[in-house]
Parts: sequence; C-alpha cells; structure tokens
Amino acid sequence: MEETIYQRVDNYLSKTFSLEDSILKETESSIVQNGMPEHSVSANQGQFLYLLAKMCNAKNIIEVGTLGGYSTIWLGRAIKGGGTVKSIEIERGFAEVARRNIEKAGLSDCVEIITGNALDILDTMNLNGEPVDLFFMDADKPNYINYFEWALKHARAGSLIIADNVIRDGKVLDEKSTDEKVLGVRAYNEMLAQNDKVISSVLQQVGVKEYDGIAISLVK
Ligand code: DHB
Ligand code: MG
Repeated sequence: MEETIYQRVDNYLSKTFSLEDSILKETESSIVQNGMPEHSVSANQGQFLYLLAKMCNAKNIIEVGTLGGYSTIWLGRAIKGGGTVKSIEIERGFAEVARRNIEKAGLSDCVEIITGNALDILDTMNLNGEPVDLFFMDADKPNYINYFEWALKHARAGSLIIADNVIRDGKVLDEKSTDEKVLGVRAYNEMLAQNDKVISSVLQQVGVKEYDGIAISLVK
C-alpha cells in the first residue's frame, strides 16, 4: 500500500531529527520478531514523551503497559541519572522481552519492569513518600479512569498524567460503540472534560501508526 502523506512526513521528521538509534530500532524489531502487538509509540511520539518528561522535571515516572519497552526507553532516557521509571506489564513474555531491551539500552539501573495486574501493583507500590511526576497509561483502556484517579492521588502540582490512544482511528465518535476500548477512552475523555483538578488537552496524532491521539493533563 502506498504511504500516506502523514507517514511520509513522520518518516521525514524521524530521519531529520535522527530520532531512532540502533537500540530503538532493535527494540521495535524484537516486538515484531516475538509476534507482539505492534502498538509501540512511534519515534516522534517517543520524542514527544521525552520532551514532556523533561518539561515537568520528571524524576518518578510510572508507565502502564510496557510491551517491548520502546516508550520505556524514551522515558528512561529522560530521567537517566536522576530518577526512576517503573513500568508495569501484565504479559510475562512481553516483560521478558522488555527487560532485555532495557538492559541493552543501559537503563537497567533506573528502569524497573514489574509484571502483573497494574491496579494491584499500584495499590501496594512504595513511592518512598515522593510524588509521581509523570504517569503514562498505554494499556487496559477500560481502566483508564481508575489509573487517572490513582495518578492524581499520588501527583504534585505540575505532574503530568498522559493517556495514549484516546481517538482510536476516530472510533471515539461512535456513541453506540460496544468496543470496551472505545468505551474506556470515551469515558476517559468525558471525565477529563469535567475534571477541574487538571488542565487537559487531547491531541490528535497521525503518522506511521494508526490515526489516534493522546490526552495530556497537567495537575493544578
Ligand atoms: C492498541 C493499544 C495501544 O496502546 C496502541 O498504541 C494502539 C492500539 C489496542 O489495544 O488496540
Ligand atoms: Mg498506545
């Protein structure tokens, strides 16, 4: 299939800014080779997460949905030498692939991959009394609101709560959808719109990945 203008521009930006080194390329390849879902963020989206982490001076980052560790590497690079990323993955096999990628990226000292159900893990997580500066949810869409509530409880003023895939190729418009992922992100967007504890913006995103979007909330 011919590339769309959005894919071509995404590739142009990725190339112009030299966004992907061999570590990131090998991480994405490991996802394909291991038959995992190709749901990593793109290079440009990874760079955007990196920028957001830098902008909020992130020290403590939590990610829900490690997959192969692609976005985890971007976030790990943002805090390297001055913080930690705890990334939660429910699939043991995926977590093993991710741990190898984190090791190759030289981030094992600041990135922890935790295997299990994210809500259970968050419930008992020891934060050493420190706030979570950036929370990135990228799995388990039906529970997005539950992750948000947890993140808000453990945030400081200026923390970011970020949710991937809140547009879903425009399926978010379908009021009659019975898809649990669509229902999850619709409920999430509507909750954000009403929540006065955060300032939120939802960005549509196009490029090498499916047409989708990201919700960014700044804690007041
Ligand atoms: C899906 C999940 C993702 O995190 C993503 O970026 C794209 C699609 C999904 O479950 O459909
Ligand atoms: Mg995603």
